[in-house]
Amino acid sequence: MVSADVLTIAVSKGRIFKDALPLLARAGITPSDDPETSRKLILETNQPDVRLVIIRAADVPTFVEYGAADVGIAGKDVLMEYDSDGLYEPLDLKIAQCKLMTAGFAGKAASRGRLRVATKYVETTRRYFARQGRQVDIIKLYGSMELAPLVGLADVIVDLVDTGNTLRANGLVPLETIAEISSRLIVNKASMKIKHERIKALIDGISAAVAAKQEGKGV
Ligand code: ATP
Ligand code: PRP
Repeated sequence: MVSADVLTIAVSKGRIFKDALPLLARAGITPSDDPETSRKLILETNQPDVRLVIIRAADVPTFVEYGAADVGIAGKDVLMEYDSDGLYEPLDLKIAQCKLMTAGFAGKAASRGRLRVATKYVETTRRYFARQGRQVDIIKLYGSMELAPLVGLADVIVDLVDTGNTLRANGLVPLETIAEISSRLIVNKASMKIKHERIKALIDGISAAVAAKQEGKGV
């Protein structure tokens, strides 16, 4: 499935695409279209043998593991939930940074009964509570997790927290941190062998951009 000629990079639109754009540019890759305005799902780039595929954030590891894309950019939250050892994860891009947390009404943290937890991160949540030996009922949602405690659907939620504004706006507080989240570069295992030179150059270019940004030199 991996094409020998073209390097395919999977990325989701929105916040990850926006933050990844300057890093890709530093590695010499500029897309020819803006996915926010274009309906195209395959974007050509300034490099004739590099293309981007625009997919849902949660689908990025699937496309990369199965070789439909050689490389991808995915949030650690998505990778933890996908939970596969069929991918390389060579680089922390330090973009889209936030925390995966439990949250709820103030004072509920110490509750030792059987909690009801609403989340889209079912597997990560199951593992987190299992490690602590806490029995919970997990309710799968696809979004608007913050609503669940407000309407009595769940006691707590597991969701991403950055500024905390969404929690505050809904009268909730952050409780426990499950993981620090940022976006990672992921690579298909076969591609890493077959297209080693090109992928190494891409990793080096993006890595230099991440370092420059951390040192405040821009990218
Ligand atoms: P989709 O739009 O496909 O439903 P999504 O809503 O998860 O997916 P985004 O909100 O763009 O898509 O989130 C993509 C990734 O960005 C997440 O997987 C996470 O790693 C990161 N992220 C999400 N929310 C925040 C936030 N508030 N601050 C920083 N990073 C975030
Ligand atoms: C994410 C996440 C939280 C919010 C946290 O949602 O699901 O709701 O950000 O960020 P904050 O702590 O800065 O408020 P997002 O804004 O991506 O909306 P969506 O997932 O519903 O698209």
